[in-house]
Amino acid sequence: LFAGPVDFVKGVVAMSGMPPADRVEVCFAGRSNVGKSSLINALTGRKNLARASNTPGRTQEINYFALGDARYMVDLPGYGYAEAPVAIVAKWQALLKSYLSGRQTLRRAFVLIDGRHGVKAVDEEIMDLLDRSAVTFQAVLTKADKVSRAELEQNIEQSRAALSKHPAAYPELIVTSSEKGLGIETLRATIATLE
Ligand code: GTP
Ligand code: MG
Repeated sequence: LFAGPVDFVKGVVAMSGMPPADRVEVCFAGRSNVGKSSLINALTGRKNLARASNTPGRTQEINYFALGDARYMVDLPGYGYAEAPVAIVAKWQALLKSYLSGRQTLRRAFVLIDGRHGVKAVDEEIMDLLDRSAVTFQAVLTKADKVSRAELEQNIEQSRAALSKHPAAYPELIVTSSEKGLGIETLRATIATLE
Protein backbone atom coordinates (compact mmCIF):
# COMPACT_ATOMS: atom_id res chain seq x y z
CA LEU A 1 0.00 0.00 0.00
CA PHE A 2 0.91 3.64 -0.14
CA ALA A 3 3.12 5.09 2.56
CA GLY A 4 1.12 7.42 4.79
CA PRO A 5 -2.62 7.78 5.31
CA VAL A 6 -5.18 8.09 2.52
CA ASP A 7 -8.01 10.54 3.07
CA PHE A 8 -10.94 11.98 1.18
CA VAL A 9 -10.32 15.72 0.86
CA LYS A 10 -13.28 17.17 -1.02
CA GLY A 11 -15.65 16.93 -3.96
CA VAL A 12 -15.18 19.82 -6.36
CA VAL A 13 -17.97 21.12 -8.61
CA ALA A 14 -16.23 24.18 -10.11
CA MET A 15 -12.63 25.13 -10.92
CA SER A 16 -12.87 27.83 -8.22
CA GLY A 17 -13.25 25.06 -5.64
CA MET A 18 -9.98 23.28 -6.41
CA PRO A 19 -7.58 22.65 -3.52
CA PRO A 20 -4.38 24.71 -3.67
CA ALA A 21 -2.11 23.48 -6.48
CA ASP A 22 0.77 22.55 -4.19
CA ARG A 23 1.06 18.77 -4.52
CA VAL A 24 1.87 16.21 -7.17
CA GLU A 25 -1.44 15.11 -8.63
CA VAL A 26 -2.61 12.15 -10.73
CA CYS A 27 -6.12 11.65 -12.03
CA PHE A 28 -8.28 8.83 -13.34
CA ALA A 29 -10.25 9.62 -16.47
CA GLY A 30 -12.34 7.34 -18.63
CA ARG A 31 -15.76 6.49 -19.97
CA SER A 32 -18.61 6.23 -17.49
CA ASN A 33 -18.58 2.85 -15.77
CA VAL A 34 -15.05 1.92 -16.94
CA GLY A 35 -13.97 1.39 -13.32
CA LYS A 36 -12.28 4.63 -12.16
CA SER A 37 -13.70 4.68 -8.65
CA SER A 38 -13.18 0.93 -8.21
CA LEU A 39 -9.54 1.34 -9.21
CA ILE A 40 -9.00 4.01 -6.53
CA ASN A 41 -10.50 1.67 -3.98
CA ALA A 42 -8.24 -1.18 -5.11
CA LEU A 43 -5.16 1.08 -5.04
CA THR A 44 -5.88 2.29 -1.54
CA GLY A 45 -7.17 -1.02 -0.20
CA ARG A 46 -10.32 0.77 0.94
CA LYS A 47 -13.53 -0.77 -0.38
CA ASN A 48 -15.78 2.28 -0.26
CA LEU A 49 -13.42 5.23 -0.29
CA ALA A 50 -14.59 6.23 -3.78
CA ARG A 51 -18.19 5.39 -4.52
CA ALA A 52 -18.56 2.84 -7.31
CA SER A 53 -21.78 1.57 -8.85
CA ASN A 54 -23.19 -0.22 -11.82
CA THR A 55 -24.98 2.95 -12.96
CA PRO A 56 -22.93 4.92 -15.53
CA GLY A 57 -22.59 8.48 -14.25
CA ARG A 58 -22.09 7.60 -10.59
CA THR A 59 -19.24 10.06 -9.96
CA GLN A 60 -20.46 13.60 -10.68
CA GLU A 61 -17.83 15.69 -8.93
CA ILE A 62 -14.06 15.89 -9.05
CA ASN A 63 -13.13 13.96 -5.93
CA TYR A 64 -9.79 14.66 -4.28
CA PHE A 65 -8.01 12.04 -2.17
CA ALA A 66 -4.79 12.81 -0.32
CA LEU A 67 -1.98 10.26 -0.24
CA GLY A 68 0.06 11.30 2.75
CA ASP A 69 0.83 15.02 2.56
CA ALA A 70 2.59 15.24 -0.82
CA ARG A 71 0.17 13.78 -3.36
CA TYR A 72 -3.39 13.84 -4.57
CA MET A 73 -5.29 11.16 -6.44
CA VAL A 74 -8.27 12.55 -8.30
CA ASP A 75 -11.39 10.58 -9.24
CA LEU A 76 -13.16 12.19 -12.19
CA PRO A 77 -16.68 12.00 -13.56
CA GLY A 78 -16.87 9.75 -16.61
CA TYR A 79 -17.41 10.82 -20.20
CA GLY A 80 -19.67 9.29 -22.81
CA TYR A 81 -23.04 7.83 -21.89
CA ALA A 82 -24.34 8.57 -18.38
CA GLU A 83 -27.65 8.00 -16.65
CA ALA A 84 -28.26 11.61 -15.59
CA PRO A 85 -30.12 14.63 -16.99
CA VAL A 86 -28.51 16.14 -20.12
CA ALA A 87 -28.01 19.61 -18.60
CA ILE A 88 -26.25 18.17 -15.56
CA VAL A 89 -24.04 15.92 -17.67
CA ALA A 90 -23.07 18.92 -19.84
CA LYS A 91 -22.04 20.84 -16.73
CA TRP A 92 -19.79 18.14 -15.35
CA GLN A 93 -18.29 17.43 -18.78
CA ALA A 94 -17.28 21.09 -19.07
CA LEU A 95 -15.69 20.90 -15.62
CA LEU A 96 -13.85 17.71 -16.59
CA LYS A 97 -12.39 19.39 -19.69
CA SER A 98 -11.36 22.50 -17.75
CA TYR A 99 -9.66 20.30 -15.20
CA LEU A 100 -7.80 18.14 -17.73
CA SER A 101 -6.55 21.13 -19.68
CA GLY A 102 -5.92 23.59 -16.86
CA ARG A 103 -4.54 21.99 -13.72
CA GLN A 104 -0.86 22.93 -13.43
CA THR A 105 0.07 20.27 -10.89
CA LEU A 106 -1.48 17.39 -12.85
CA ARG A 107 1.56 15.15 -13.42
CA ARG A 108 -0.13 12.26 -15.16
CA ALA A 109 -3.63 11.39 -16.28
CA PHE A 110 -4.46 7.72 -16.22
CA VAL A 111 -6.89 7.14 -19.05
CA LEU A 112 -8.90 4.02 -18.29
CA ILE A 113 -9.89 1.84 -21.21
CA ASP A 114 -12.37 -0.99 -20.80
CA GLY A 115 -10.47 -4.22 -21.42
CA ARG A 116 -13.56 -5.64 -23.10
CA HIS A 117 -13.92 -2.81 -25.61
CA GLY A 118 -10.57 -1.16 -26.31
CA VAL A 119 -10.12 2.52 -27.28
CA LYS A 120 -13.34 4.20 -28.48
CA ALA A 121 -13.96 7.50 -30.27
CA VAL A 122 -14.75 9.33 -27.00
CA ASP A 123 -11.43 8.12 -25.56
CA GLU A 124 -9.66 9.55 -28.62
CA GLU A 125 -11.32 12.93 -27.95
CA ILE A 126 -9.98 13.01 -24.40
CA MET A 127 -6.53 11.91 -25.59
CA ASP A 128 -6.57 14.72 -28.16
CA LEU A 129 -7.40 17.19 -25.40
CA LEU A 130 -4.52 15.88 -23.29
CA ASP A 131 -2.16 16.14 -26.29
CA ARG A 132 -3.17 19.77 -26.82
CA SER A 133 -2.76 20.49 -23.10
CA ALA A 134 0.61 18.69 -22.95
CA VAL A 135 -0.53 16.48 -20.08
CA THR A 136 1.26 13.12 -20.10
CA PHE A 137 -1.26 10.34 -20.00
CA GLN A 138 -0.98 6.60 -19.49
CA ALA A 139 -3.56 4.05 -20.56
CA VAL A 140 -4.88 1.59 -17.99
CA LEU A 141 -6.94 -1.32 -19.26
CA THR A 142 -9.65 -2.26 -16.77
CA LYS A 143 -11.82 -5.29 -16.01
CA ALA A 144 -9.26 -7.78 -17.34
CA ASP A 145 -11.10 -10.47 -15.36
CA LYS A 146 -14.19 -10.00 -17.53
CA VAL A 147 -12.64 -10.84 -20.88
CA SER A 148 -11.01 -13.88 -22.48
CA ARG A 149 -7.23 -13.91 -22.82
CA ALA A 150 -7.49 -13.72 -26.62
CA GLU A 151 -9.87 -10.76 -26.59
CA LEU A 152 -7.73 -8.99 -24.01
CA GLU A 153 -4.62 -9.44 -26.19
CA GLN A 154 -6.52 -8.05 -29.15
CA ASN A 155 -7.66 -4.98 -27.18
CA ILE A 156 -4.13 -4.44 -25.82
CA GLU A 157 -2.83 -4.37 -29.41
CA GLN A 158 -5.64 -2.06 -30.54
CA SER A 159 -4.93 0.27 -27.60
CA ARG A 160 -1.16 0.30 -28.27
CA ALA A 161 -1.81 1.22 -31.90
CA ALA A 162 -4.16 4.04 -30.86
CA LEU A 163 -1.70 5.37 -28.25
CA SER A 164 1.18 5.45 -30.70
CA LYS A 165 -0.59 8.30 -32.53
CA HIS A 166 -0.71 10.54 -29.45
CA PRO A 167 2.34 12.65 -28.61
CA ALA A 168 1.34 12.98 -24.93
CA ALA A 169 0.85 9.23 -24.42
CA TYR A 170 3.24 7.38 -22.14
CA PRO A 171 4.35 4.34 -24.15
CA GLU A 172 3.53 1.62 -21.60
CA LEU A 173 0.01 0.64 -20.71
CA ILE A 174 -1.02 -1.18 -17.55
CA VAL A 175 -3.51 -4.06 -17.54
CA THR A 176 -5.63 -4.22 -14.39
CA SER A 177 -8.48 -5.91 -12.60
CA SER A 178 -9.71 -4.13 -9.49
CA GLU A 179 -11.73 -7.24 -8.74
CA LYS A 180 -8.73 -9.62 -8.81
CA GLY A 181 -5.94 -7.20 -7.88
CA LEU A 182 -4.16 -7.56 -11.21
CA GLY A 183 -1.78 -4.70 -12.09
CA ILE A 184 -2.61 -2.80 -8.90
CA GLU A 185 0.89 -2.98 -7.43
CA THR A 186 2.40 -1.82 -10.73
CA LEU A 187 0.08 1.17 -10.85
CA ARG A 188 0.73 1.97 -7.19
CA ALA A 189 4.49 1.92 -7.82
CA THR A 190 4.05 4.17 -10.86
CA ILE A 191 2.12 6.73 -8.84
CA ALA A 192 4.58 6.58 -5.96
CA THR A 193 7.55 7.43 -8.22
CA LEU A 194 5.99 10.49 -9.90
CA GLU A 195 7.54 13.70 -8.64
P1 GTP B 1 -18.62 6.54 -13.22
O1 GTP B 1 -18.31 7.17 -11.90
O2 GTP B 1 -20.08 6.30 -13.42
O3 GTP B 1 -18.01 7.25 -14.37
O4 GTP B 1 -18.00 5.03 -13.23
P2 GTP B 1 -16.55 4.52 -12.80
O5 GTP B 1 -15.64 4.59 -13.95
O6 GTP B 1 -16.11 5.18 -11.54
O7 GTP B 1 -16.84 2.96 -12.54
P3 GTP B 1 -17.03 2.22 -11.15
O8 GTP B 1 -15.75 2.10 -10.43
O9 GTP B 1 -18.19 2.81 -10.45
O10 GTP B 1 -17.38 0.74 -11.67
C1 GTP B 1 -18.47 0.48 -12.54
C2 GTP B 1 -18.89 -0.97 -12.39
O11 GTP B 1 -17.85 -1.82 -12.87
C3 GTP B 1 -19.16 -1.38 -10.95
O12 GTP B 1 -20.28 -2.27 -10.94
C4 GTP B 1 -17.88 -2.12 -10.56
O13 GTP B 1 -18.08 -3.10 -9.57
C5 GTP B 1 -17.46 -2.76 -11.87
N1 GTP B 1 -16.00 -2.96 -11.96
C6 GTP B 1 -15.04 -2.02 -11.83
N2 GTP B 1 -13.81 -2.53 -11.96
C7 GTP B 1 -13.98 -3.85 -12.17
C8 GTP B 1 -13.09 -4.96 -12.39
O14 GTP B 1 -11.85 -4.85 -12.41
N3 GTP B 1 -13.66 -6.17 -12.60
C9 GTP B 1 -15.00 -6.37 -12.60
N4 GTP B 1 -15.46 -7.59 -12.82
N5 GTP B 1 -15.87 -5.36 -12.38
C10 GTP B 1 -15.37 -4.12 -12.18
MG1 MG C 1 -16.87 6.78 -10.54
